[in-house]
Amino acid sequence: MKKLLVLSGVLLVLIAVLAACGGNAATEAPVVEQPTEVAVVTEAPTEAPVALSGDPIRGGLLYDEWTKVLGVDAPEGDQPLWATQTTNTRSGGTTWRCKECHGWDYLGKDGAYGGGSHQTGFIGVMQVAGTDPNEILAALKTGDHDFSAYMDDQALTDIALFLSENILDSAAFISEKAAVGGDAAGGEAIYVENCTDCHGPEGLALNFADESGPEYYGTIATDNPWEFVHKSRFGQPGVADMPALVDLGLTDQEYIDLLAYAQTLPTSSPVAEGGRLYDNWIAAIGAEDMTTDQPLWATQTTNTRTGNDTWRCKECHGWDFKGVEGRYGSGSHMTGFPGVISSAGKTSEELLTAMKTGDHDFSSYLNDAQLNALVAFIQQVEDMAPYINDDKTVNGDAANGETLYASNCQACHAEDGKALDFDDGEGVEFVGTVAADNPWEVLNKLQNGQPGEAMTAGRHMDWSFQDLLDILAYIQTLPIE
Ligand code: HEC
Ligand code: HEC
Ligand code: HEC
Ligand code: HEC
Repeated sequence: MKKLLVLSGVLLVLIAVLAACGGNAATEAPVVEQPTEVAVVTEAPTEAPVALSGDPIRGGLLYDEWTKVLGVDAPEGDQPLWATQTTNTRSGGTTWRCKECHGWDYLGKDGAYGGGSHQTGFIGVMQVAGTDPNEILAALKTGDHDFSAYMDDQALTDIALFLSENILDSAAFISEKAAVGGDAAGGEAIYVENCTDCHGPEGLALNFADESGPEYYGTIATDNPWEFVHKSRFGQPGVADMPALVDLGLTDQEYIDLLAYAQTLPTSSPVAEGGRLYDNWIAAIGAEDMTTDQPLWATQTTNTRTGNDTWRCKECHGWDFKGVEGRYGSGSHMTGFPGVISSAGKTSEELLTAMKTGDHDFSSYLNDAQLNALVAFIQQVEDMAPYINDDKTVNGDAANGETLYASNCQACHAEDGKALDFDDGEGVEFVGTVAADNPWEVLNKLQNGQPGEAMTAGRHMDWSFQDLLDILAYIQTLPIE
């Protein structure tokens, strides 16, 4: 197959050269059946411009955030044209994104970026749809708009093809951010087929932001329908296996159906958010490091940690929620403080009061939504003794866990769980390491996700609690170093 493509590429170049040399033959150049993928001919003779070839889907991703797609750092400073506007106060890498100047709706100042904090006053790119990609390519290599020092010709060609062939004019389909005339039932079918596996049945399994302003699938659809449609069509830069719906040849109407459905999905998930806050609220909301210890910390002497750790709910109350009655009843984490299991039955009001009172007052750090999420979380904690044994073994079926791991975790963590190392010091900490050392911690993260990271919250997947235990049992068999 590859050989054939190369051959036909050579053929095309030959014909082009012959045409260029052959005087009036140029105008009568034989019509060549063009293979869809041929090598790019960079120096096309002016008499017979050779059609550009490339990957418009990659072009759509590059339009979104080309540095992420190419795996490069953004150029130093602001894009030179940035200085010609004053309304958008962002700086640095963002100013190099095509979407930042031309919009998710491709309309620039005539669209959603005609006002608000993203306003630049720059034109859109809708007008180039359907025009000669060679001219678009030229616009990407000109003056202060010259990107050729940062992207190779193939990348620029891919973008030109995307703009010429693939931009969707959604003006008729989206009004005041709402999908117009979309069939949500049809959209649900598209969602279930293509998106549920990673985003979960309600779109709550991945939080793209952090707990200071959680952003789920439904949030993007509601807040920024144009971004939603663009990413649905082309995928997410840096997430190799997120599908691009343009590959499947959906109709314009079907994108709007998907949007209509996505706009019905929830935009918050209190229990999982509470679980991530309980784990590490400083990381979860991206707060500044603490310079002092939590005031109650001084009432104990056995745990010698300082700073951020002393503010973590889990540090005083335990991963097993039992405080001094559980795993933290001894060892370097022991404080002597009580657990929170016995508080699970309390009312929201009682629990909120406990978190806003005296030395246990967190209200100057966490807002009401965050405190309420913690309350929702505490109200459902339960004893893990039936699931995780004292010797750290887990009552789960590792074979089922292996299947689930392969299709849901491997893409980010690799088959052996060693793609990401969580230890920021000298040692190593892989999925297998934490699972073996602290299954209570890992179960919490499997249910709720990792604070501050777009990691799957298992409670929002189509999994039973037993499935989570099965995954845990399996990852305990992965290498620990
Ligand atoms: C800093 C803002 C900025 C960024 C980033 C930017 N552009 Fe532009 N773009 C402009 C401005 C301003 C113009 C019109 C004036 C000009 O051509 O210099 C323009 C013009 C264009 C045109 C020509 C439109 C026409 O009608 O002729 C195209 C196509 C285009 N940009 C595509 C892109 C693509 C693709 C990217 C990302 C690789 C990109 N732009 C990044 C500001 C930007
Ligand atoms: C293979 C897993 C996977 C599948 C399948 C998948 N996604 Fe995603 N998607 C992700 C990941 C991971 C992120 C988060 C990336 C990040 O925040 O770094 C994401 C993010 C997104 C975002 C938001 C990006 C942002 O930063 O604002 C949208 C919108 C989205 N996906 C839409 C879809 C749609 C629509 C489908 C189905 C057609 C889909 N995804 C299927 C993995 C997937
Ligand atoms: C420095 C240790 C420490 C940290 C950090 C801490 N707590 Fe506590 N917590 C305590 C102590 C001690 C008590 C019992 C005495 C008290 O209420 O002051 C308690 C009591 C509680 C209770 C029981 C209140 C009741 O009336 O039933 C809940 C619920 C609770 N904490 C939740 C949390 C949550 C959620 C966080 C994280 C935002 C957190 N705690 C952080 C030490 C801590
Ligand atoms: C979209 C990517 C993604 C997916 C899917 C994903 N993770 Fe993660 N996971 C991460 C990231 C990012 C981290 C944090 C890495 C860090 O802190 O350095 C993480 C952290 C972890 C940790 C360690 C947390 C700690 O700090 O000790 C475990 C355990 C883990 N993941 C297990 C899993 C399992 C099991 C699955 C599948 C059910 C899974 N992950 C799915 C991205 C992902």
